[in-house]
Amino acid sequence: MTENDKELQIVLLAAGKGTRMKSRLPKVLHQVCGVTLIERILRVVVELNPVKIIVVVGHEEELLREELEQVSKELELPDRSIELKIVTQKKQNGTGHAVQTALPALNDNSNVLIIPADVPLLTSQTLDRFSDDFNKQQATVSCLTCIHPAPYGYGRIIRDEKGVFRAIVEHKDCSENELLVSEINSSIYLVEISFLKQALKSLKANNAQGELYLTDIIAYADEHQFPTAAFIIDDYLEVSGANTRYELSLLEAHQRSLINKQHMLSGVTLEDSSQIYIDEDVVIGADTFIGAGTHLKGRTSIASDVEILGNSFIINTTIGSGAIIKPSCHITSATIAQNCSIGPFAHLRPGSKLHESVKIGNFCETKKVELHAGAKVNHLSYVGDAKVGKNTNIGAGTITCNYDGEKKHKTTISSDVFVGSNTSLVAPVTIGKGAVIGAGSTITKDVPDKALGIARAQQSNIDNWKNRKKS
Ligand code: UD1
Ligand code: CA
Repeated sequence: MTENDKELQIVLLAAGKGTRMKSRLPKVLHQVCGVTLIERILRVVVELNPVKIIVVVGHEEELLREELEQVSKELELPDRSIELKIVTQKKQNGTGHAVQTALPALNDNSNVLIIPADVPLLTSQTLDRFSDDFNKQQATVSCLTCIHPAPYGYGRIIRDEKGVFRAIVEHKDCSENELLVSEINSSIYLVEISFLKQALKSLKANNAQGELYLTDIIAYADEHQFPTAAFIIDDYLEVSGANTRYELSLLEAHQRSLINKQHMLSGVTLEDSSQIYIDEDVVIGADTFIGAGTHLKGRTSIASDVEILGNSFIINTTIGSGAIIKPSCHITSATIAQNCSIGPFAHLRPGSKLHESVKIGNFCETKKVELHAGAKVNHLSYVGDAKVGKNTNIGAGTITCNYDGEKKHKTTISSDVFVGSNTSLVAPVTIGKGAVIGAGSTITKDVPDKALGIARAQQSNIDNWKNRKKS
């Protein structure tokens, strides 16, 4: 809420194609540390408790609408009484035109915060300070600015000799002198709605890009004696736009270092922070060790006292305390309970549920499998669509043959089973408690509790073979 109890409404500009990204995806669906640009900005603006958020979409709007629907649920916008409205800007005729498109959806008697959706590092604290300054200055329109070390491409803040903010001039429209200005337009504005309506009517496309520029509302305010303000912030990265993949990567690298720092300050050891990639929503407990080359993605949650030795990809996975992930594992949507040992070189696919003290060794693959406490799959095995009981030992090279070419079938292996090496378990099949499977068996029938199941050709030895071959 801004001063005088004026409601705050947000307009997010996200209709552009993002030509400079050279991508099939609209720019704001690109990610920084695992979160799309549009979700990042939504997370920030909901902190301000606006009554309404209007998102202007256009290019590939269906994709964007899908994402917005999901994010709205995640952020529980309806529960917070924040109305999310999506408006379509059919032809992307510039930032001014985009805001014109949003106008009919805006309530009267409010202040409007306009933000381009391609500023991934913006924080709500900065917006709060911006809003306070707007109130203090009693401005009608205010622009968030900064001194940028690389102002190329940005609109420049043009001030007169007295330092009064007179206009914004786009890079492509700048004179030589104006190009020397390093104070840039972040494209984040706070505006009184009545002024906004009036100023937008005046926009003309007489500029280098032939578009309706939102930036021109400043010159309009100046000309018509509306009080303007420019709020300069120190951290230029917060308002830097991600227009190309290169810019995106620079901003992501910065954000990554902040995330890593935060984890280290909370007691996590990072072997070499510059080589560890942790997404925004990852949770890690204290005294956990993360080795170089580790990628922790999505909603991964790692308890305390875990060791992740390095070069692993871990995605949307939960890991309990005391677990160790040896090098070079790929783990997706798995649940790993405490004191498990995984890898090196293990592949845990979605639905792998490991209870306490399970061991998965080198070159093993698991999928949709529940392994009960103390079960071991130590070498070169595939276990999928299966249940494995407590303390069962699966020998090297065991395969659950779960697929018959048409359908997937289940394998149930009870507790305390010993499966000999190089066994094929042809599903559907059940191995009873305490059973033993002879090495090299192809098991197609159920094996009862405590029985020995063995299914392989009998060995015959032919005596004196070497001499017989010679003669
Ligand atoms: C804009 C500003 C520039 C500022 C910079 C800050 C203008 C004319 N220029 O330039 O002064 O320094 O941001 O990052 O405002 N969009 C639409 N519809 C359109 C065009 C753009 O919704 O018709 C959206 C885009 O999706 C994007 C945002 O507006 O999210 C900004 O557009 P972009 O093309 O990135 O503007 P810049 O050239 O960066
Ligand atoms: Ca931009």
